[in-house]
This record gives sequence, structure tokens and C-alpha cells, in this order.
Amino acid sequence: MRKGYSFYVNNKLRLFRLSKNMNFAKFNHVHKTGVKQIDDEHEHLIDMINELILSFNHDNEISTAQEILSRLENYANYHFENEEKYLKKVNYKHFEEHKEDHNNFRIKIKDLKKRHSNGDQGIAHKILNFLGDWIHNCQLADNLSQN
Ligand SMILES: [Fe+2]
Repeated sequence: MRKGYSFYVNNKLRLFRLSKNMNFAKFNHVHKTGVKQIDDEHEHLIDMINELILSFNHDNEISTAQEILSRLENYANYHFENEEKYLKKVNYKHFEEHKEDHNNFRIKIKDLKKRHSNGDQGIAHKILNFLGDWIHNCQLADNLSQN
């Protein structure tokens, strides 16, 4: 792991329980919603994070970043739709707020894609930081347990 990816090192992300060599992020059980489909889909996000991390070791982070960005766009389409459907069904109190978060996610991915096509060399790091913050700030599991 290169220096500078303090995103894992400082572990402000409760979600990530790191292995000893800090190579992989794992889904922390405290962030599980208990809804299988949603939790499974959230695991996909963790998978993408791990692929990015792996790409640093293989020096193919720029091409991996490109692929991950397309997958994130796709992810936003199906996952947010599934999640919003569920949240509506259970009358989620913070629904509008959460929908807004989803929209901001889409906007951010678009922005990252633009940066990537403009040749931003630090793009993988930026994606990683964004996803890390996104997961860190997500209150869904907490809120759902009190809904
Ligand atoms: Fe989600």
C-alpha cells in the first residue's frame, strides 16, 4: 500500500475492519440493515473498494478507476432504486433526505468521470475517499433500527 492513502490508515471509517496488512476493507456488521438484498448490494460497494485497493498494488489504478466508475453509475441505478422502493414500503422517516443523498452520489460520480477523462492521475484515490466518506456518513442502518 502506498503512502498517502490515509483513508484506511486513520480508520475513521467504522465500517471498515481492516486485516492486519491493511489491504482489504470489510463490511462491519454494525452497518448491516438486516435486509438481505440491501446488505448484499452494499457488499458490492465494498467489493469495488477492494478492487481499487488491489489496483494500487498492481499499478493499474487508472484503468481500474475507469471500470469502477462505470460500475458505480450502474450501481447507483439499480441499488438506489431497490433501496428507495424498500424505504418507501417501510415508511422510512428520512426518505426525502436519503433520496437527496442518492442524487448527490450520482452527481459526484459524474464529476469523477469528468475528472477521469480530463486525465486526473489521482482519480482512484478520489473515488476511494468519496466512497469511504459515503459509507462513513451513511446512517441508514442506525435510522432503520429506530424507524
Ligand atoms: Fe444503500
